[in-house]
Amino acid sequence: MNFKDKIRVIPDFPSPGIRFKDITTLLKDGPAFRAAIEQFKDFAVERNADIIAGPESRGFLLAAPMAYAMEAGFVPIRKPGKLPHETISQDYSLEYGKDSLEIHTDAIQPGQRVIIADDLLATGGTIGSTIQLVEKLGGIVVGVCFLIELTYLNGREKIEGYDVFSLIQY
Ligand code: PRP
Ligand code: MG
Repeated sequence: MNFKDKIRVIPDFPSPGIRFKDITTLLKDGPAFRAAIEQFKDFAVERNADIIAGPESRGFLLAAPMAYAMEAGFVPIRKPGKLPHETISQDYSLEYGKDSLEIHTDAIQPGQRVIIADDLLATGGTIGSTIQLVEKLGGIVVGVCFLIELTYLNGREKIEGYDVFSLIQY
């Protein structure tokens, strides 16, 4: 399967000079979506994951079907103010300003093996704070997977030492 062919590149979105990687063209292609999830699932099964965590919102699209496919638990990492129970939060920096993500304090038990899935590794800010949240709860991050890695943004530097899998690179 040539996954790169399934991604639609949109020039100058959301601002001039950005070449946006649109994953909706891959998601609406049944065999491509399934093949991508199968690869992620194999990665997670090989690492004996108990939990698949995904950052809102595009991470949900991958982490939830992975968890279902291997009968692991799914844990949402959400934008501020969305989770109803007790949470911890983690800030991360954006190009201009900062944002934060939250997780329920009882979402992960100490020692549980966690795989994190997201659609895109760009600067690494999102994955970095997701990893911190999981580890604050005592989870062991046994792998991280992405549909797309923008290698020229060097996001990997933020996740050195972790087991990283990306399906498509630019
Ligand atoms: C996008 C994308 C990744 C993140 C990658 O999410 O889905 O999660 O940016 O960028 P980074 O490596 O520089 O952190 P976004 O925050 O746009 O939100 P969304 O998933 O809700 O669309
Ligand atoms: Mg996202």
